[in-house]
Amino acid sequence: MSKTTLGFIFSGMAYLLIGVVMGVLFLFLPGTQRLANVHAHLNLVGFVIFLIFGIGYHILPRFKGRPLFSERLAWWQFWVSNIGLIGLVIFMGIGAFQPSNGLRYVAATFGALLMLGVVLFVYNMLRTLVPPARR
Ligand code: HEM
Ligand code: HEM
Repeated sequence: MSKTTLGFIFSGMAYLLIGVVMGVLFLFLPGTQRLANVHAHLNLVGFVIFLIFGIGYHILPRFKGRPLFSERLAWWQFWVSNIGLIGLVIFMGIGAFQPSNGLRYVAATFGALLMLGVVLFVYNMLRTLVPPARR
């Protein structure tokens, strides 16, 4: 298993733990539901999507019978996506209590990094799964 796959699986489990603890706290501490957007992205992007990235990197090239196009690009994608998600949830979270245009732009910048991570994953997978045209 590559370090990218392990990285996505472990970081995904960490986001899930934080996400479900937040969900329970929402029910104990009224008012904290304002952070539902943080909880939603930690669970859905941090766990669901990141786990799919990790397992996808391991299993999809094997289904195709070809090595992953670029392990180096996958490792970059791991960092870009994690930094993007962490920044997005931190600044979306602060913005839920103190809305400001400044915070929104910072959150958007991290969101764009997360989006870049998605693009890198799709590119790496397409280069792996779609064979080059024969000349
Ligand atoms: C122990 C587990 C969990 C608890 C106790 C919990 C609890 C909550 C609570 C209290 C809210 C706020 C609802 C409101 O707006 O008042 C919420 C929102 C949400 N949760 Fe969870 N949750 C849990 C796990 C999950 C998981 C695993 C996912 C996704 C895989 C998830 C996805 C969402 C989403 C998307 C929202 C936002 C829904 C909206 O747009 O209002 N939750 N959750
Ligand atoms: C680049 C990636 C993404 C960015 C920048 C992003 C950003 C956002 C923003 C700004 C909101 C509105 C939050 C608010 O009203 O406070 C939102 C809502 C939501 N997003 Fe995302 N999102 C991304 C990816 C995803 C993905 C991949 C999923 C699901 C797998 C998802 C699920 C949701 C859900 C369920 C909501 C409504 C949750 C709520 O506010 O209660 N997002 N997203």
